Amino acid sequence: MEYDIKDLSLKNIGREKIEWVKDFMPVLSSIEKKYIDKQPLKGIRVSMALHLEAKTAYLAIVMKNLGAEVRVSGSNPLSTQDQICAALVDMGISVFAYRGVDNETYNRHLVQALSHKPHIIIDDGADLAHTLHKKHPELRENVYGGCEETTTGVIRLKAMDRQKILKYPMFAINDADCKHLFDNRFGTGQSSLEGVMRSTNLSLFGKKVVVAGFGWCGKGIAEKAKGFGANVIVTEVDAVKALEAAMEGYEVMPMKQAAKIGDIFITSTGNIDIITKEHFVLMKNNAILCNAGHFDCEISMKQLNKIAVKKEDRRNGVTGYHLKNGNVINVLGEGRLVNLACSDGHAAEIMDMSFALQLLTALYVLDNKGKLENRLYNVPVEIDRAVAEAKLESMGICIDVLSAEQKKYLESWE
Ligand code: NAI
Repeated sequence: MEYDIKDLSLKNIGREKIEWVKDFMPVLSSIEKKYIDKQPLKGIRVSMALHLEAKTAYLAIVMKNLGAEVRVSGSNPLSTQDQICAALVDMGISVFAYRGVDNETYNRHLVQALSHKPHIIIDDGADLAHTLHKKHPELRENVYGGCEETTTGVIRLKAMDRQKILKYPMFAINDADCKHLFDNRFGTGQSSLEGVMRSTNLSLFGKKVVVAGFGWCGKGIAEKAKGFGANVIVTEVDAVKALEAAMEGYEVMPMKQAAKIGDIFITSTGNIDIITKEHFVLMKNNAILCNAGHFDCEISMKQLNKIAVKKEDRRNGVTGYHLKNGNVINVLGEGRLVNLACSDGHAAEIMDMSFALQLLTALYVLDNKGKLENRLYNVPVEIDRAVAEAKLESMGICIDVLSAEQKKYLESWE
């Protein structure tokens, strides 16, 4: 079995972490139970690019248990946990990832994860799609289709779809209700703040926390920071979102103004150059900066490295950049997603839903192979509903049911 990981001897710690999250992912477990005898993925080769931590590992294991031959790479150089990679290899899954890989190795790992010529693609950030379309078209000849987990990946796939260059059908998991309403909002809200608090060992109460972007992730981060007693400031470019933030009671202003007063800055826009040198020089001494967006392009690390007169490691995951004006700017997790670089990512109960969507959608792709067009699809509503229903059931929550009269009333215009 091929693999490229840091240290196989870490497998027991990885196993413990996976065993722990399994107990809190009942929806994914119930799907595994339902299909285990049928082995619907028997003979199917699956390539996955994932933030390699315990929950994603469990998805890979379930895919394998349902019969698939699974190859996995990381989806970000700093989100990979080496213990998890070791545990997966020990369980017979080919993993090509370790924490802190350079760009060249990261890209090689993507190719290695694809080199068995997969039938199904499970992407997070669309790096597998990029590799299959730009660099290694010969590896995509067997692909039936796949799914994409995050906002940024979906944005990239939408651009490919608009240009009509997608060579296999893809499903936008992120756009399903059971993904962005929960994972992006509640998941990123909690785990980004965990990343900040764990890496700095500081508090949020009384601090001015600047949240850049009031989309699904930004809303969650702002809400949770407010809950911790922070004074939240929002920056936006969309008038409606900015208005929504203002009506939620947050201060709204441009980044140039916020830069002068913020204590902690968290970007989550999916866009580039949100915090740049024009902002760094305005910031208070010991300002803390981090990013929750998919790529490390929201805080301009290039510019910060250029204007800093000295750089030092201050704590695990905290780098201090000394500026000419005597101030220090602290960046968490090198500007990569703070919740995964400086913490364990989203809570297991949340990822249970996102990964249930991934698995059910992969099964849908198989059931419909040959019938789908090479374009970006939304997750079928039945799958979204099924995941919500299974989650409610696992939480012991019952809801009301429309009566025939109510249904008729809602469908009529008279
Ligand atoms: P979204 O599209 O709902 O929100 C992004 C918001 O940023 C929009 O309201 C947009 O108007 C705003 N924005 C864009 N440019 C801006 C600028 N220059 N200044 C201020 N605001 C700006 O996207 P969502 O779902 O919130 O995702 C954001 C990013 O987070 C994406 O890169 C996504 O892939 C990533 N993500 C990260 C997760 C994590 O675990 N850290 C989980 C889910 C998503």
